[in-house]
Formats: sequence, structure tokens, C-alpha cells
Amino acid sequence: MASDSFYAAVDIGTTKTCVIVARLADGDTLKVTGVGYTATAGYGNGKVENAHRLQAALKSAAEDAYRYLGHDVATNVYATVSSDGIKCFNSEAEITGLRSKGPVGHGEVAKLVDSCHPGPANGHMVLHVIPIEYEVDGLGGVRNPVGLQAEQVRVNSHVVVCDTQHVRDLVSVMTACKLPPRSLVAQSIGAGDAVLTEGERELGCVLIDVGGGTTDMTIFRAGNPWFSSVLPLGGMHMTSDLAACLDLPLDVAEEVKLDWGYAMPQSLDANEQATIPSKDGESEWSISRKAVCQPLHDRLEEILKLVLLRMQQAGLRNLPPGGLVATGGCAEMPGFEEKLRAMVGGPTRVAWPAEVAGLPSYLARPAFAAPLGTLLWGAKHQGRSRIYNGNESSWLEKLTFRRGRRESREKELALVTRR
Ligand SMILES: Nc1ncnc2c1ncn2[C@@H]1O[C@H](COP(=O)(O)OP(=O)(O)OP(=O)(O)O)[C@@H](O)[C@H]1O
Ligand SMILES: [Mg+2]
Repeated sequence: MASDSFYAAVDIGTTKTCVIVARLADGDTLKVTGVGYTATAGYGNGKVENAHRLQAALKSAAEDAYRYLGHDVATNVYATVSSDGIKCFNSEAEITGLRSKGPVGHGEVAKLVDSCHPGPANGHMVLHVIPIEYEVDGLGGVRNPVGLQAEQVRVNSHVVVCDTQHVRDLVSVMTACKLPPRSLVAQSIGAGDAVLTEGERELGCVLIDVGGGTTDMTIFRAGNPWFSSVLPLGGMHMTSDLAACLDLPLDVAEEVKLDWGYAMPQSLDANEQATIPSKDGESEWSISRKAVCQPLHDRLEEILKLVLLRMQQAGLRNLPPGGLVATGGCAEMPGFEEKLRAMVGGPTRVAWPAEVAGLPSYLARPAFAAPLGTLLWGAKHQGRSRIYNGNESSWLEKLTFRRGRRESREKELALVTRR
């Protein structure tokens, strides 16, 4: 068995740490061979807060995921990143004097795309440089210039960067757990591979992954990511609001949210009661389910309003025809889809990840869209890896291309709401 046919996705989320291992057979059939997940420890607010505790959680998830294969299997590891230290911008580069060299080659295009990145700046490392579209000898809208005869090729790329310290901390924890990542993948870009249809990507759509501590979003245009952003809000904030409203410990509030949460309290029967479980020897008690759901609803509404605002800030006047697609653990809350429809208008849906062979069906849920999509992303981009040491990340190929980036046209798109 070739060692390079094994792939693993690592997803260190605010609430759960997950490892999925799969084998890529015959170059294109992915079969999951093991999954492990556990509650996250030592990670919060988009930062590694305690490396030892996080390593213990990741090791435990990895042990479960590798139980079937054994730990000695060399694996291509791809890992999600979700942090409000993620920023994006779209940047152009061009190459000229190609005519004498024959048809445009793969290597030239790869270097051209990577040259969209300006180099290390302001403590950020590059996560992605993804071509949006090419212009060949002045003709725009070209998807792939490889094989064309041209004098000049220009590319417009989506560049996603992340806080250097955060990247270093994550890579060091994963390396200590014998899971050094070949590449890090922005959570909502990874999730897109698990939940979006080709039609949605092509028409243009907004993908949100509403998780425990963050809401990650990527806007897709003509098949490719065009804007990415992370809001530092998610299901944990819904739980802490409920805990504050009902004077409950956080673990009890989480249990009540999962048992009774409904994102559209206005459509609940006024007489319906929710049961609050006993704690510290006190007996259980009842309260109107509407009263339980109102703070959950209000926080969700705030998150969705911020998503809509971020779409405007990105330059969207209307929802793209592919609509708004929501995934992540919070999207599993009953009533979430109705709330989305009521607030957003236009096409909306809660997305469950596509089935992958070997994956237990109880894990094919929105909460696992990001690790599953990252696994698919890794298998699709097999062979590519970034080096995350020193002050910048770089593809293994060294860039020798003249940069034709136009500073004036670069649009800084990342606007992070901190609270
Ligand atoms: N049925 C449900 N109803 C309401 N909330 C739910 C439900 N299922 C999961 N959640 C919430 O989803 C959140 C976890 O989602 P997810 O697993 O996607 O987060 P994460 O990946 O750990 O965190 P993040 O990506 O934000 O760092 C938790 O806050 C949990 O309470
Ligand atoms: Mg997540």
C-alpha cells in the first residue's frame, strides 16, 4: 500500500477536536478508515490557550481515528483553521513575454498565481492563493490558460492569510501529535467541498459555518472563493446567553439548548413547557419553551445580521443566485432553516455533508462538514503542501516571477468584529 494514499483531516474547533482518516484508492475513491473526536480543551477565542491540554485532546482523537490502521501509517494531513485572525484580499499578477515559449504551461500558471501574494506582511502567513479568473492577451473570463498560445496572462486571485502566531501554535500542537499538516485550510473553504453543489458555486453563493465559537463565511463566485471572513460568534454565545437568562450553569444550559432549542420561538405554542434538568440536588423544573428559545433566537439573529452586513461590506448588493447555504453544528438547531429563510430572503438551505464511503452515518452532519470537506480538499489537492516555518508560509516551489500586482486595485476585504 503506498503511504501517500492515506489522508487525514484535523479539525480543532472551539467545542470539538476531530480527526478523520481515509484512504484514497485508485487515485480517486476516498474511503474513511477511522474517525475520532473529543471535546476540545486548551483552545478558545480562536487561539491555542493551553498547548498541553490541546495536545492531549488531539492525541485522544487521533488514537481513535488511527485505531484500525495503526499509528505507523504515513498520512497526508490537512487541517482546518478558524480564527478572527483570518483576513482576505483579492490581488492581481501578470506575466508577459510568453509568445516565444510556446503554449502556457502548468508550472508558469502555478507560479503566476502564487506571485499574487505580496510576501510576509504584518504578522500574517498565507493560507490560500486561489485563482478566480484569468485574462489572456486582454480577453477576460478564462478559467484555465494552460495550453493557450499567449503573449501575456493576468490572474485575479483570492488570497487568505492568517495571524502568524496562530498558525505557528496550531502547527506546533499538530506536529507534537505526529500530525504535521501539509496544508491548512480555512474552515469555510474546506466545508464548501463537503456541502456545496457545482451549481451553487458556479451561480455564486454564500457559505456560512456556524460553529461553537466562530461563524466562518466564504462567498463563492463563478466557481471559486472570492471573499472569506470569520465572525467570533457561535453556539457557545447562544448557550452563555441562555445560562445568564435562566441562571443556569453552562453545561446545563447547553443540555437545555440541545433538548429544547428552536430558532423560531414565535411559531411555538404559548403553552409548551421545557424541562430544566436538576442540578446540585435541586429538583427539575419547567418553564415556557418560548422563554428558553428567545435568547437563543436573539443571538442567532445577531449572528445572521452580522453575516448580512459582512456580505454588504464585501460589496454584494444582493444575495447571489446560488443563495445562502448554512452548515456547522448550530445549523442543526430545529427551526434554523426557517429563521434563515425569514431573515435572508432568496434561496437558503441548511446543508448536510455529502456521504463519504466508510463514514458512520451519524457523523454525516453539519457539525462535521468542515473536517469532511477538508479531507476532500486534501485529496483533491494531493501533492501540494505549504511550509509553515520562519516568518511566512510558502509553496514548495520558489517564486521567481515578476510581480505585476497592482496595489491600487487590491481591495482589503477583511473587517473583523471583535467583542
Ligand atoms: N441540535 C442542535 N441545536 C442547537 N445547537 C447545536 C445543535 N447541535 C450542535 N449545536 C451547537 O453547535 C456548536 C458546535 O458546532 P461545531 O461542532 O460546528 O463547532 P466547532 O467546530 O467545535 O467550533 P468552531 O468551528 O466555531 O471553532 C455548539 O455550540 C453546539 O451547542
Ligand atoms: Mg468548526
